[in-house]
Amino acid sequence: MIKNAFYGCLFILVSGCATQKNGTLSEPHRPQFHFTPKTGWMNDPNGMVYFEGEYHLFYQYYPDSTVWGPMHWGHAVSKDMVRWQDLPIALYPDKLGYVFSGSAVVDAQNTSGFGEGKEQPLVAIYTYHDMAGEKSGRTDYQSQAIAYSFDKGRTWTKYPYNPVLKNQGAKDFRDPKVAWFEPSKQWIMTLAVADHVEFYASKNLINWSKMGEFGKNDGNHGGVWECPDLFPLATEDGTEKWILIVNIGNGAPNGGSGTQYFVGQFDGETFKNDNKPDDFLFLDYGRDNYAGVTWSNAPDNRRILIGWMSNWNYAQVVPTKKWRSAMTLPRELALKTTGKGVRLVQKVVKEAAILRGPSQTIAAQNISKNTPLKSKGKCHELALTFDLSKTTSIDLGVVLSNSKGENIRIGYEKTTNSFFIDRTNSGKMDFEKGFTGRHSAPRFTKNKLLKMTLYMDVSSVELVADDGETVMTDIFFPTEDFNQIALFSNNGSANLT
Ligand code: FRU
Repeated sequence: MIKNAFYGCLFILVSGCATQKNGTLSEPHRPQFHFTPKTGWMNDPNGMVYFEGEYHLFYQYYPDSTVWGPMHWGHAVSKDMVRWQDLPIALYPDKLGYVFSGSAVVDAQNTSGFGEGKEQPLVAIYTYHDMAGEKSGRTDYQSQAIAYSFDKGRTWTKYPYNPVLKNQGAKDFRDPKVAWFEPSKQWIMTLAVADHVEFYASKNLINWSKMGEFGKNDGNHGGVWECPDLFPLATEDGTEKWILIVNIGNGAPNGGSGTQYFVGQFDGETFKNDNKPDDFLFLDYGRDNYAGVTWSNAPDNRRILIGWMSNWNYAQVVPTKKWRSAMTLPRELALKTTGKGVRLVQKVVKEAAILRGPSQTIAAQNISKNTPLKSKGKCHELALTFDLSKTTSIDLGVVLSNSKGENIRIGYEKTTNSFFIDRTNSGKMDFEKGFTGRHSAPRFTKNKLLKMTLYMDVSSVELVADDGETVMTDIFFPTEDFNQIALFSNNGSANLT
């Protein structure tokens, strides 16, 4: 059964997307082409691994409620990262605690010894959170554990001698991301520990020893460090850099939780930052992309990230009924060398094109007032290019609206050379006082051609600007679906090419 598929979405400039009339897809605010659990609460993506033709997406899941609770690992698989098949829950909480975030690897050489003969185990590495321990005032209630599977992740055996990495007394000690490091022929675990990351090494995924630490004095510390990721990526000329992703629970550019990253070197023991400690790099400037990490073992060396499309500031009170939260679209990461150093760029995976419906081309023109676009349906992919050297307006962009006068505006402001998403008039907002607002993001280039690609679902927009140099993700909850789409400019005209 395929759910949460993209249902015939759009392209080149706009087009509609037919939605399924029955079932979950017709519920108010239910995303049509983003992954959501059918019912229950979801937060972080977990255990993302590619194995034998399937992309696995596990996720923090509480099936019995739409607010956070005893954490399980929910499970879905996909051949293309856009059409998902739900599978039964993979990991349940047990007497050691809730099953918090973590990763999964293919143990191709059977280093763990869990496989017999030629079997390649999938090994999941996750955090146990011992609620009773936390309530009793102890500080060592988070520890790392493993489980293994021989049936393509369908069923899992928890290692009987868990935890494999005990806590030494740090309250926040979680979210292990494990990867094979070929030069030293061992596994490296990157772990979030309150205000820094720690690196641990193991030959067999069972016995871990501490290597280095990074981050006490680097990067943004507006909130607790969570859900790290560490991987190599090549620049345009083939130079290898290491990227360290660190999610922060608070202090993101537009408030609440967000995803920062570092560019540097990793020598098998520790990470060295190429940039100044106070150079804050963010992967997404919207309010709704958190806990993002990348797939392990993806084919062709691709580095693909998915994030949780919400924010801890209000995730538990957003106005959806049977489920809470969606994932972002999968995004392929690459590096770009800029005047300020090497930076991450991202684009939505090419597989998303499978979901396009009929497309239209918008004629080149000067936009000097609200210019409605012909479009049926409520999902759009929009690829726009403006020539700023022929643009006189102070801003430009796209507005989605409905008959109730609610709207969401996504655009570019010339005076500040910045992008924005404005959801101040986007419908339901009273569930949290900080939800409303206009969020902005820097533009990193002065290129006269401005490119904006937008992926608009029923309750979210992802803006990928300037070939992925600036990205913003925001969610919204209109009282009636947005069914009108228009281009706008203010005080002058915008030259759409
Ligand atoms: C991040 C996070 C993780 C933790 C999980 C618990 O959103 O707080 O650090 O493992 O959620 O659900």
